[in-house]
Amino acid sequence: MKIAIIVHSLSGNTRKFADSLFNRLTEDGNEVNLTQLETTIPIKGGSVRQKMEISFKNLPGIAEAEVVLYGGPVWAFGASPVIVTAMQKIGSLKGKTVISFGTMGFPLKFMGGNSAIAWMNRTAATLGAKVLPGSICCQMMRNLDAEITAETDRIAKQIK
Ligand SMILES: Cc1cc2nc3c(=O)[nH]c(=O)nc-3n(C[C@H](O)[C@H](O)[C@H](O)COP(=O)(O)O)c2cc1C
Repeated sequence: MKIAIIVHSLSGNTRKFADSLFNRLTEDGNEVNLTQLETTIPIKGGSVRQKMEISFKNLPGIAEAEVVLYGGPVWAFGASPVIVTAMQKIGSLKGKTVISFGTMGFPLKFMGGNSAIAWMNRTAATLGAKVLPGSICCQMMRNLDAEITAETDRIAKQIK
């Protein structure tokens, strides 16, 4: 299957999750493309609930992809405005399957994680995607690497 992974990551945690997905899905025989988004001016924070002007140096095309995995950190108890803006700018997801993923600081998913995935799922659905359950991994009081390994496995099984 042709898979695009598109990730926003400021300090590397969500990129680590994206790399884990890339490695596993490639091993599974898929053709996988990974893009870490770069903005034209540095964006260090913000909220998806506030209007922000965000533009990109490297928005990928996804015409060929059958599955798109969108990932980003939890910011301000919600989705990263960077990944949500990228989703909107990349545009139509008609005929594609989307799985959202992310990482967060706090150990409990209701402290932003659930809301982030719900926001990304709504955005993907509005753009015409078939949306499969997303995934969030936590840092504090948890083992981020172990969560990434477990969630990578769960996502890879959904794609088969
Ligand atoms: C501006 C900003 C806001 C954040 N807000 C939250 C939050 O509301 N809830 C949470 O659990 N973590 C929050 N975090 C922590 C990040 O979600 C967490 O460190 C994540 O793993 C960072 O991913 P990255 O390394 O891919 O950038 C925030 C971090 C930043 C920089």
